Amino acid sequence: MSNRENVTASKVTLHMVSSLDGFIARKDNTVSWLDAEGSVYEAGVSVSEEEAAAFVKAIDCYVLGSRTYEHALQLGWPYGDTPTVVVTGRKLPSARKSVAFYSGDLKTLLDEKLAPRYRNIWLVGGAMLSQRFLELGLVDEIRLTIAPVLLGDGLRLFNGSLAEQRWDLKNVVAYKNGFVELSYSAAEDVRISVES
Ligand SMILES: NC(=O)c1ccc[n+]([C@@H]2O[C@H](COP(=O)([O-])OP(=O)(O)OC[C@H]3O[C@@H](n4cnc5c(N)ncnc54)[C@H](OP(=O)(O)O)[C@@H]3O)[C@@H](O)[C@H]2O)c1
Repeated sequence: MSNRENVTASKVTLHMVSSLDGFIARKDNTVSWLDAEGSVYEAGVSVSEEEAAAFVKAIDCYVLGSRTYEHALQLGWPYGDTPTVVVTGRKLPSARKSVAFYSGDLKTLLDEKLAPRYRNIWLVGGAMLSQRFLELGLVDEIRLTIAPVLLGDGLRLFNGSLAEQRWDLKNVVAYKNGFVELSYSAAEDVRISVES
């Protein structure tokens, strides 16, 4: 794990869904591009509702940037009652009991508030917060789901501010709906360069 070896057995997974051309949101924030209608990849796997529910149940905590939080509230809250931390410098209204707001150093957030309580921590965006976590070496695993669509424009997952980092491919899952999930863990040289 990246910059947190000595702290805890907890793991931070960054999960994002990207278009083929590297966008995670349309400019108008509509999300129909995430619908899997139409595409069928016969050799792919499908996931039952029970499997999906068991997977989500194993997530102990979500971490979101404030813009992702605001968009999630508009769309219909997808995080259930799982504890969720929203990173913001603003005073935002609390829409749910499971949501706590945090402002300040992100390593302190992980080491002092999240890691002692939660093992399976999911950072679910957006681009700004994810890049900050990556810059600080606070991500153990990247799970990138590629949607079978070119958007042409929108919010880039990576905007060019990151230094080169090498990650090790750990798993690839192709789904029947044409989405592909790529899982990576931080390579040793990422840990060394971020820590030094
Ligand atoms: N495709 C996907 O998988 C996916 C996943 C997640 C989100 N999204 C989309 O991405 C868009 C939002 O992404 P985004 O990059 O614009 O925003 P974001 O990362 O969700 O939120 C950015 C905000 O988080 C707060 N923040 C970030 N870093 C901080 C730090 N170090 N300290 C304190 N506060 C910090 C700031 O909030 P304040 O301004 O409140 O201080 C900042 O304005 C939405 O359209 C969302 O739907 C897509």
